[in-house]
Order: sequence, then structure tokens, then C-alpha cells
Amino acid sequence: MSLPVIIVGSGGHAAVVADALLAADVRVLGFVDTDPDRIGARVCGLPVLGSESVLDSHTPGAALLANGIGGVRSEGLRKPVQDRLESRGWEFATVRHPSAIVSRFATIAPGAQLLAGAIVQANARVGKGAIVNTAAVVEHDVELGEFVHVAPRALLCGAVVVGDGSHIGAGAVVRQHVRLGARTMVGAGAVVVADFAGDCTLVGVPAREAR
Ligand SMILES: CC(C)(COP(=O)(O)OP(=O)(O)OC[C@H]1O[C@@H](n2cnc3c(N)ncnc32)[C@H](O)[C@@H]1OP(=O)(O)O)[C@@H](O)C(=O)NCCC(=O)NCCS
Repeated sequence: MSLPVIIVGSGGHAAVVADALLAADVRVLGFVDTDPDRIGARVCGLPVLGSESVLDSHTPGAALLANGIGGVRSEGLRKPVQDRLESRGWEFATVRHPSAIVSRFATIAPGAQLLAGAIVQANARVGKGAIVNTAAVVEHDVELGEFVHVAPRALLCGAVVVGDGSHIGAGAVVRQHVRLGARTMVGAGAVVVADFAGDCTLVGVPAREAR
């Protein structure tokens, strides 16, 4: 039997993560959140247990955490929070909604999240802490770095490479073999047809750097 899971964060992404875990018959104990106003709230029928200090009453190894920090500009928060908790001995669960279609030839790093209707094709590599969100498509031979977020319905064509901490916006398309450097923000609906070095925001069709 899999270990029970506590979700870090209690906002919209945390709810989607809880739903995916529950759909996969994983026991979810609840949420921890730094916002005191959230304590006592219920999300997907489960309690916000308290601040991170709640974790002191659990033993790493007897439960796992799941990263519930999402949002568009949150990639810079998702990783440091996970790093800090990992340094305290916690492990992060890999989350896989039962409706996600994942090739047996794909490589999924620990702590990645494959949400409802996501498709990950043969020989794709999904990095640690990366999110393949609702109905997003990660085609064959794509490489997603650590803590990349592929937002709902985005499409990464074959052999695309996405650097660490990047965000591919909802409904965006990235043409095959394109390489995007770390911390690239691709706007919703953009069509990326060329390589970009990273640390930039891309919008439009074809995608250009936003001023
Ligand atoms: C690209 C993005 C990051 C820019 O956000 P922002 O920095 O807050 O920028 P603003 O909303 O202030 O917009 C700045 C300009 O870019 C334009 N713009 C913003 N997003 C755009 C997009 N996706 N495509 C084309 N133009 C866009 C705005 O119209 C505005 O133009 P103007 O200066 O001529 O008025 C954001 O709009 C976006 O697309 N985020 C992805 C959303 C997403 O994936 N959500 C799923 C979450 S699970």
C-alpha cells in the first residue's frame, strides 16, 4: 500500500493535486499552508491542517508530501519550498491521475505531477517536480527540466527541450526540436517556432519576446 500524503499549499493547484491523488486511491491526510487564514478550511473535503509545523508531528518515511504550489509565477516558489522540506528528510510523491496516458518508455522523475488527461509519449523525460497539467501533451523525445510547468492543453511537439523552471502557458504550442532555456515563460496561446536562450517571456504567433 502506498504511503499517505500531505499536500503543501491549499490553493487551486493543491486541489487539483488532491483530486488526482484521491482518484488514484492514495490516502491524503490534508494540507499545510503558511497562510493562517487558511487553517481549518476544507479543500476537496479534506482539512487544512495548519502551518508547516504540523509536519513535526509526522515522521518522514511514514508519509510523503506532494507539492501543491502552482500558479503562473510560482515556479520560483515551488522549488525552494520543496528543497527546504527535502533537506528536512521529506520525500515528495509522484502524482499521476489515472486518466493520464504515460508511455512505458517515458522517464518520469520523482515528484513529477501528471494530471487529468495529460499525455506523455515514448522516450519523453519529465524532470523532478515538473507538472504536466490537465490535457497537456508532451510528445515523443521531449525533455522537461526540473520544476517545469506545462499548463493545461499546451502541446510540446517531438524532441522539444525545456529548461528548468520554465512555464509553458495554457494552450501554447512549441514546434518540434525547439530548445528553450531555463526560466522561459511562454504566454497562453503562443506558438513557439524558434529557440530562445531563457529568462524571457514569449507571446504571440509566432512567439516573440514580450517587451
Ligand atoms: C504572458 C503572461 C505571463 C504575461 O503576464 P503579465 O506579465 O502579467 O503581462 P500583462 O497581462 O500585464 O500583459 C502585458 C502585455 O502582454 C500582452 N499579453 C499578455 N499575455 C499575452 C498572451 N498570452 N498572448 C499575447 N499577448 C499577451 C497583454 O495584452 C499586454 O499587452 P499591452 O502591453 O499591449 O497592453 C501571461 O499573460 C500569460 O499568458 N500567462 C500564462 C497563463 C497560463 O498559462 N495559465 C495557466 C495556469 S495553470
